[in-house]
Amino acid sequence: MRKALIGLAIVLALYLLIVLIAGRGPHVDIPADARIGQEYVGENEAAVIERTQNLILDQMRSRYGDDDTALRDAHPKAHGCVQADFQILDGLDEHYRYGLFAAPRSYHAWIRFSNGSLVPQPDAKGDVRGMAIKLTGVPGPKLMPDENQTQDFLLINHPVLPVGDPGEYADLFDLAFQGRPMSYMFSLNPFAWKLGALSEIIAIRTKKIPSMLGIRYWSTTPYRWANNGAVKYSARPCEASTATVPDDPTDNYLREVMIAHLEGRDACFEFMVQPQTDAVAMPIEDPAVEWSEQLSPFVPVARIVIPVQNFATAPQDQFCEDLSFSPWHSVAAHQPLGGINRVRKSVYLAISAHRHQHNLREPIEPTGEERFD
Ligand code: HEM
Repeated sequence: MRKALIGLAIVLALYLLIVLIAGRGPHVDIPADARIGQEYVGENEAAVIERTQNLILDQMRSRYGDDDTALRDAHPKAHGCVQADFQILDGLDEHYRYGLFAAPRSYHAWIRFSNGSLVPQPDAKGDVRGMAIKLTGVPGPKLMPDENQTQDFLLINHPVLPVGDPGEYADLFDLAFQGRPMSYMFSLNPFAWKLGALSEIIAIRTKKIPSMLGIRYWSTTPYRWANNGAVKYSARPCEASTATVPDDPTDNYLREVMIAHLEGRDACFEFMVQPQTDAVAMPIEDPAVEWSEQLSPFVPVARIVIPVQNFATAPQDQFCEDLSFSPWHSVAAHQPLGGINRVRKSVYLAISAHRHQHNLREPIEPTGEERFD
């Protein structure tokens, strides 16, 4: 009897291992002769982009009636927009002196901190957290028509996406909008279960955090760097935080904690880049694959200082709503790379335009001079 049970346990373990491997794996085929910094455009990508855009537009139209204020489709809950100083470091190694990081200088920045879930929910619920950085007064031509003085960096508090293929991402959006994202992971065929994606979604959606100013963020997707290379971005608090989630958290405690922090002291992040050093193990086209920090460590290239301030005023919150962040608000030197980023190019523009038209609000391209207190 005991032997039979052990046998059964071994079979079950093997089965789960196979399912895990079958469900994981890169969802995007990377050519064995892939080159550093090289993009590989999928065959039906234009159709996938159109499908994604239509899905999100339909979702926005059905969620917000004429009398409602439309929030962002993703990351609708803002904890606030804060002013910051984005200081390019002096004395960088030659390889890191590139694009906006070529010489030490400081940019005035706006940073919007947010929760990711499509419907705003209490902060104590596990969620994706966003840090959207917008540098102002950035010289030179830009990749998009709607902003010509800014450079945005969009980061979330997780290093990878649950899926890396634009078509699979659209499927996931579709099911999430129908309120059943889990059916993406499971099918009748257990060998097609996408347990890798499931474990990432669980990892992302169960993270509870004490403060937006004390956690690390990643770009997950890559961006152009020197010599036709590529990097991913990450922002890490300058000092490790010892804060814990409050015992009895209010629905908006993340905003309250940020208000209390910035009443008394500055906040600070190191902004870092991680160069792609292996085109297959660190793919451009699959942001579901984490780029190993053993293969290529993140290197600080700038310091973000968020000075003491009172950001929580109604006019500043409205300004925050009127802003549009996009990874494509960028100089060519830092062009977004990979399929997920290519999808984002027209989608962010269309959704932001729809949001502003719906709300009868003018889009704002900030100068950095805005003050609200
Ligand atoms: C195909 C993939 C993606 C699509 C279709 C998508 C779509 C969107 C949309 C429509 C918005 C709201 C835009 C607006 O109304 O102004 C948004 C916001 C945002 N997205 Fe994505 N997204 C994608 C991937 C990502 C990835 C990979 C990240 C990782 C960093 C990310 C991070 C964010 C953040 C932080 C915001 C909030 C920006 C803000 O504060 O205004 N998204 N996304």
